[in-house]
Amino acid sequence: MHTPSIKTLLASLSPLPSVLVRGWVRTRRDAKGFSFLELNDGSCLANLQCVVDETVPGGDRLKEILTGAAVAVQGELIPSPAKGQQWELKAVSLELIGPAPEDYPLQKKRHSDEFLRSIAHLRPRTNKFGALFRIRSEASFAVHDFFRNQGFTYVHTPILTGSDCEGAGELFRVTALPRGSKEDAAADFFGRDAFLTVSGQLEAEPLALSLGKVYTFGPTFRAENSNTARHAAEFWMIEPEMAFFDLTANMDLAEAFVKAVARHLLDHCAADLALFNQWVDKECLARLTQVADAPFERLEYREAVRLLQAACDAGESFQYPVAFGTDLQTEHERYLAEKKFGKPVFLCNYPASIKPFYMRVNDDQETVAAMDLLVPTVGELIGGSQREERLEVLQARMQAQGLDPAPYWWYLELRQYGSAPHAGFGLGFERLLMFATGIPNIRDVIAYPRTPGSLEF
Ligand code: 4AD
Ligand code: MG
Repeated sequence: MHTPSIKTLLASLSPLPSVLVRGWVRTRRDAKGFSFLELNDGSCLANLQCVVDETVPGGDRLKEILTGAAVAVQGELIPSPAKGQQWELKAVSLELIGPAPEDYPLQKKRHSDEFLRSIAHLRPRTNKFGALFRIRSEASFAVHDFFRNQGFTYVHTPILTGSDCEGAGELFRVTALPRGSKEDAAADFFGRDAFLTVSGQLEAEPLALSLGKVYTFGPTFRAENSNTARHAAEFWMIEPEMAFFDLTANMDLAEAFVKAVARHLLDHCAADLALFNQWVDKECLARLTQVADAPFERLEYREAVRLLQAACDAGESFQYPVAFGTDLQTEHERYLAEKKFGKPVFLCNYPASIKPFYMRVNDDQETVAAMDLLVPTVGELIGGSQREERLEVLQARMQAQGLDPAPYWWYLELRQYGSAPHAGFGLGFERLLMFATGIPNIRDVIAYPRTPGSLEF
């Protein structure tokens, strides 16, 4: 028996005599002696209309089939007389695989984002989340395609680490709980503190300084207690790291990368993106197209501060004031990307005082070779830098930041054995999806969001 997906069936060029489809019923409409079942199997946004006569095998159970039920329909794919659809399935048999009750939570109406978060186990069955997860999947493949085409090696950095890459103190500590031990008697498994990684960068650098160009793509954890729409405790980050790259080459790569993923989504997810453009954010397709096609802006941090101050003087109201040395807030980032330039903006050369120890100190001694990419609606999408490859400068930076060099012995040693300029960045995958879809809350671009106080699923 031929069991194509609904997506494949709806793209068929000719009628098919005998196919089997399985999926979940969106609606059932009854007529005299037969019913229409709108079936969705998650392969695409569209439903397949199945016309089921009461007299076919299994047809006697038609009236038990409510929204949400899992069914199998065998039949013939024929041209549909109905408007707006090319094909329908004329059933020769019906099987009710798993019934759903009358109070199935996903009845045919619009549900609030808050409600859907409370049913994270069911929300993938909605049009919106089906589309989102297909886009998320395509974007993942686009990431791998891009780096593979650019000659990168995909590497896997550890999730359990002993260091705080970003030095921001946002670590989750990991405790071993060997079988039978009491919680407070948990063995010190590693003989030292262990944490969930906040970034694979430090471990990726040695791989770049051996393999040339590498990238990671994996889960990342931050115990940020800020309950914002852009921060999750668990998110996915893409981190390329390249030997012999400076900050400009780093920005060039980041720009090409974001453009390639945007282009891939436009080319491969048109129907799913159209749903977001219609229902969530009427500008999201236009923005994505602009990202794919038009060059990004590049700006010194210093210049950005001047622009923000000028905007303030001209009446723009920010909650937080800006001066050289302030960490920009989302409101500032969004002002620059949305109002000032109306496109993605790289800010570079940030004050050393607000950036981590590993960033390369510039000749002015005041700034580091850092770059952030700010995009409309989201703010910071990428954070990256050229790394400090000079041992003495790195040691001085660590000392200035009060870091104990002991656990970083291997990181420092790398600066003694064939050290070389290198650079890299981290892109928050959920933020990229927020940008592509216009979804304003990070909780709605990941299947099981982890945020403060939320670990239900
Ligand atoms: O700017 P960040 O902190 O940079 C780093 O971790 C570097 N070590 C990356 C590197 O150079 N290899 O984080 C990078 C990106 C941010 O720009 C943001 O998009 C995302 O990761 N991000 C988060 N996304 C969701 N929830 C959070 N709590 C995030 N924190 C950072
Ligand atoms: Mg950052």
